[in-house]
Amino acid sequence: MELRHLKYYVAVVEEQSYTKAAERLFISQPPLSRQIQNLELELGVQLFERGSRPVKTTEVGQFFYLHAVKLLANAEEIKMMTQRVGTAEKTLTIGFVGSLLFGLLPKIIYLFRQQQPKLRIELQEMNTKQQIEALKEGKIDVGFGRLRISDPAIHRILLREEPLMVAVHAQHHLCIFEQGLYLSNIIDENIFIYPNHSKPNFSTQMRSLFYEHGFDPSHLIEVREVQLALGLVAADEGICIIPQSARAIQIPNLKFIPLLDKAAISPVFLAARNMDENSNIQSLMECIYQVYDQESIVYQRKANNENAN
Ligand code: BEZ
Repeated sequence: MELRHLKYYVAVVEEQSYTKAAERLFISQPPLSRQIQNLELELGVQLFERGSRPVKTTEVGQFFYLHAVKLLANAEEIKMMTQRVGTAEKTLTIGFVGSLLFGLLPKIIYLFRQQQPKLRIELQEMNTKQQIEALKEGKIDVGFGRLRISDPAIHRILLREEPLMVAVHAQHHLCIFEQGLYLSNIIDENIFIYPNHSKPNFSTQMRSLFYEHGFDPSHLIEVREVQLALGLVAADEGICIIPQSARAIQIPNLKFIPLLDKAAISPVFLAARNMDENSNIQSLMECIYQVYDQESIVYQRKANNENAN
């Protein structure tokens, strides 16, 4: 059985007609019918109801159709990914989630540009889910995100687990917890979560954090982005949770308090195509670890081909 046979079969099922399928495939009808007959012979099953008009699949034919579609999609993915790997030596396109821009991403990219002056580096903001699709479509070579999204074609490396902090107004009553506080201390507050687009995202992660601890805070307010959330906190409208590195956003009258619950972390993941041996990705990882060392960040060194959870 060849991919060609699957394409023929899928076309007949979707067009519900041999004539239309043959037109779609730019072949004539007799060889198409012959190929489908051969396929049935090879599989030893009947894929279509005999004499049905429009053409209808049998139960086993429907089962085969669903798997054929999946296999063809996989083949298409492999084609796009391979084309990308073949042209990726001079350019590295990086997808990233917005929240990383307020942390170490600019520093990492700046250093990487200095280390790789001949490499063209392109940055594209997108959420973690979009990064997985973009990797498979060959639109990016590496993605940085915060969500644990799995896909068989992609491997994910946990770079570090960033602590979370609570941002409050400098005169807020929670400032008595200067050394740190727990989710249970903040559930009755107005809590701004963000962003309010491209879900799943950091706001999804914050909701899960509360639910996993058995809390259902009633005053979660979604806002467009982290700067807006921090601006509103500075106006004492409420509080918000940020990854530690977002403290770099300078707005007067803000205080940042560590969140002490054990699960109060936001992981940072690198995602790349399985088996992509692009040496630029390994160099980028070395550059990230260099920045972590400079910033005294705790991490576990990984190789590009290691998968992590
Ligand atoms: C980090 O904050 O750990 C990070 C940000 C961007 C890329 C890689 C790591």
